[in-house]
Amino acid sequence: RTTAVILAGGTGQRVGLSIPKQLLKIAGKAVIEHTLTTFERADSIDDIIVLMAPGYVPDVEKIVAKAGFTKVRKVIEGGATRNETTERAIEALREGLAEGEDRNVLFHDAVRPLLSQRVIDDCVAALERYEAVDVAIPSADTIIVTRTHGQDGEFITEIPDRSRLRRGQTPQAFKLSTIRRAYDVAAGDPNFQATDDCSVVLKYLPDVPIHVVAGDEYNMKVTQPVDVFIADKLFQLASTAAPEQVDEAAYRELLGGKTVVIFGG
Ligand code: CTP
Repeated sequence: RTTAVILAGGTGQRVGLSIPKQLLKIAGKAVIEHTLTTFERADSIDDIIVLMAPGYVPDVEKIVAKAGFTKVRKVIEGGATRNETTERAIEALREGLAEGEDRNVLFHDAVRPLLSQRVIDDCVAALERYEAVDVAIPSADTIIVTRTHGQDGEFITEIPDRSRLRRGQTPQAFKLSTIRRAYDVAAGDPNFQATDDCSVVLKYLPDVPIHVVAGDEYNMKVTQPVDVFIADKLFQLASTAAPEQVDEAAYRELLGGKTVVIFGG
């Protein structure tokens, strides 16, 4: 069995609205409704649990009821950090599991509403061979590493070879037993600090290989105010959110009919 865990415990400080950004309506639906729709439709997903920002669980329950999602099993409150939210999800998944039973889990950011079915399927398929799977895309920008020297500001210490750098997205997929073990080991580290779940496996279960599945550019995270605008445009572009189904005419219309060579040029 495969469970999708929707991480929606954040409040979206950087977008800066009065409600969490996952409840913001883009292209006619709340961001989290787009995300849930994608997992509801995925044949490889059996059920879904949502971890929502404290105080907003009823809002998600209303969305689920109205949309008639049948796979959403539980909507509970998230934790104070993203990793605490993951830990709560692991705890919730432990319940109802028979002795020795394992399952696949896909942790996905609620605020990546343009995830494609292809990426979900590739993650689930990769779990047949690997216990841990990440999703990433190449970096178009050069990434520099810096150090701050007091009032003089930042200075470059390293420029890693761009061909090996990737930008991590979600889902991050695991055997439940593996991610649980990683968090169990992490619990013994008083300096535990992470922002995603693969880094917990990388650090605390160094022998477990983490396979990387190709993500896509559409699978952006709504993080800054400008991302709301970009996500809205991307929804206009691709009704199904799958880049291979983008219609060139729609793209041209969006660009105001300007003559630009976009594809194959
Ligand atoms: N998240 C979570 N629990 C938290 C914090 C974040 O489940 N305690 C989730 C967010 O809801 C989001 C994803 O992790 O779907 C990615 O996090 P981010 O973009 O940083 O979201 P926020 O924490 O809401 O944003 P900000 O840092 O701007 O407040």
